[in-house]
Amino acid sequence: MNYRDTATWLKQQLPLIPSFGIILGTGLGNMADIYPVLAEFPYKDIPGFVQSTAPSHKGRLVLVEISGEPVLVMQGRFHYYEGYKMSEVVFPTRVMAALGVQALIVTNAAGSLREELSPGTIVQITDHINFMGANPLIGENDDNLGERFPSMNGQYDPEHRRICDELAKEMSIETRHGIYIGVTGPSLETRAECAFFAQIGADLVGMSTVPEVIAARHAGMKVLAYSIVTNYSNLFHDLPHSQDEIQANAAIAAKNLRTLLERFIATIG
Ligand code: HPA
Repeated sequence: MNYRDTATWLKQQLPLIPSFGIILGTGLGNMADIYPVLAEFPYKDIPGFVQSTAPSHKGRLVLVEISGEPVLVMQGRFHYYEGYKMSEVVFPTRVMAALGVQALIVTNAAGSLREELSPGTIVQITDHINFMGANPLIGENDDNLGERFPSMNGQYDPEHRRICDELAKEMSIETRHGIYIGVTGPSLETRAECAFFAQIGADLVGMSTVPEVIAARHAGMKVLAYSIVTNYSNLFHDLPHSQDEIQANAAIAAKNLRTLLERFIATIG
C-alpha cells in the first residue's frame, strides 16, 4: 500500500483537510479527548496502517477541532521496537504530508539524562541524535516526497520554536530546551549507556520521534517537538521505573503542554 493511496482514501472521508498534524506519545493519548471530534478512524480500519501494540496507546487517528482549526491527531504511534519496519513507523507521517499537513507537532515521553530535567518537566526538543542504527529514508528515494539527502539543519522549526517559547513565557508555563537521543529499545538503557549519551550531548532519551521527524523533514513539513520527562534515567538511581510511574508523570505535564499547543495552533493557524 502506498501512502498516497491512503491519503486519497482519507480525503474521501474527511469533512475538512487539516493543515496541522499531531503525533501523541506514551501517556499523552488522552490529550486530544477534550476536543470536538470531526472524524475518527481506528488504525485497523485505515488501509496501510499497522497496529499499535505499545502500552496506553489508543491506536486511532482523529480529526479534531483545536482553537478553531482542523487538526489530524495520531493517538498512539508505531515504534521500531514493536518490530515494524522503519517504512511502517513513518507511514502515517507520510500520509499526513500527502494530505497537505504543513505543520507537524510530535510529542513523546522521555527519560532524563540531566538532573535539572526532573520528571514532569516539559522539554522543547531543539535537536536530536539518531542512535537507532536505522533511518527511514534508507532505500530508493521517493522524489515525490523529497530529496535524496535532506538537510537536518533547523529540523525543529526555529520560528515555531520561538513562538512557543514566547507563548509559554506569556502563560507562565515552564518549559526547558533539550537534545533528544533516539534509541531502539525496548530494553531500557544501562547506566553506562546513559553516561555515554549525556557525554555526547543528549539531555533526553527515548524510543520514538526521530524516525517521524526525519520523514517529516524529508517531506517538507515544519516540525515542532516536545518531550515530557516521565522518569530519570538510571544515571541517577538504581530503581526500575514502572509503566504506572511513567504514565502518571506524563498526565500532569500533558495538561500544560496541551494548553501551550492550543495557543500555538491559534497563533499560527
Ligand atoms: N528511556 C527510554 N525511553 C523512555 C524512557 C527512558 O528512560 N522513559 C520514557 N521513554
